[in-house]
Amino acid sequence: MVEVAGLRHAFDGKPVLRGLDLQVGSGEIVVVMGSSGGGKTTLLRCLAGLLRPDDGEIAIDGTSVIREPEQARAKTGLVFQYAALFDYLNVAENILFGLRRRKRLSARQAKEIVDDQLGQVGLEGVADLMPDELSGGMRKRVGLARALCMEPKVLLYDEPTSGLDPVTAYSIDQLIVETRDRLGMTSVVVSHDVTSVMRVADRVAFLAEGEWLFNGTPAEFASVKEGAVAELIAKARAESLVR
Ligand SMILES: Nc1ncnc2c1ncn2[C@@H]1O[C@H](COP(=O)(O)OP(=O)(O)OP(=O)(O)O)[C@@H](O)[C@H]1O
Ligand SMILES: [Mg+2]
Repeated sequence: MVEVAGLRHAFDGKPVLRGLDLQVGSGEIVVVMGSSGGGKTTLLRCLAGLLRPDDGEIAIDGTSVIREPEQARAKTGLVFQYAALFDYLNVAENILFGLRRRKRLSARQAKEIVDDQLGQVGLEGVADLMPDELSGGMRKRVGLARALCMEPKVLLYDEPTSGLDPVTAYSIDQLIVETRDRLGMTSVVVSHDVTSVMRVADRVAFLAEGEWLFNGTPAEFASVKEGAVAELIAKARAESLVR
């Protein structure tokens, strides 16, 4: 569903992605972790068609992001860190923003879509609120609703639980899994939160200096004995996040 081969990118001559391969199967949730500056956001931007890599191939549901960026982008939903809602638009107009650029909607259609999408993300009765009237968790849900209403094949989440309290983070993790279970959504989640990773990932890929240091199941991830992954696991255990 997502296929990445030989992905390379450098900024100002400094290599950031050094020939990455990645396969994400249909309906699979892959969590990308990694050291700060390791290239996670750069990878996500390449997948979303927002940054053209120096070299390599990326296919989303069989469509090349490099050769057919418009078509590939139409199959990809991006849930931004901090939701990135437009402060001057209410929740309904935030959700409809992308869709309105693609097709004309009657008032009734618009209301139906908004109500349906808000239901899907577990929010009701907030269509007329402004973003600054929402909690952090609600904003993330609206960000997901906005991505879902474009009916993507693949969802990319950038740090979906960062800045949230543990209870809200838990509910967002559940929402990511529910969305996959309900829609069979292929998902790539960038996260630095080991607790979230253990809850949502079918597979974990750990990026360090532009290369995969690890790619395997959460159980295998938790039993890595050396290097940056082991340090991260040890730290999480010390904070009693994993046993
Ligand atoms: N637009 C850009 N121009 C120049 N350098 C960039 C640009 N974007 C990212 N970089 C550099 O590329 C490297 C990887 O950055 P990236 O944001 O992908 O890392 P990250 O893994 O997401 O890190 P973090 O965990 O801190 O978010 C960093 O050294 C960063 O400074
Ligand atoms: Mg980043």
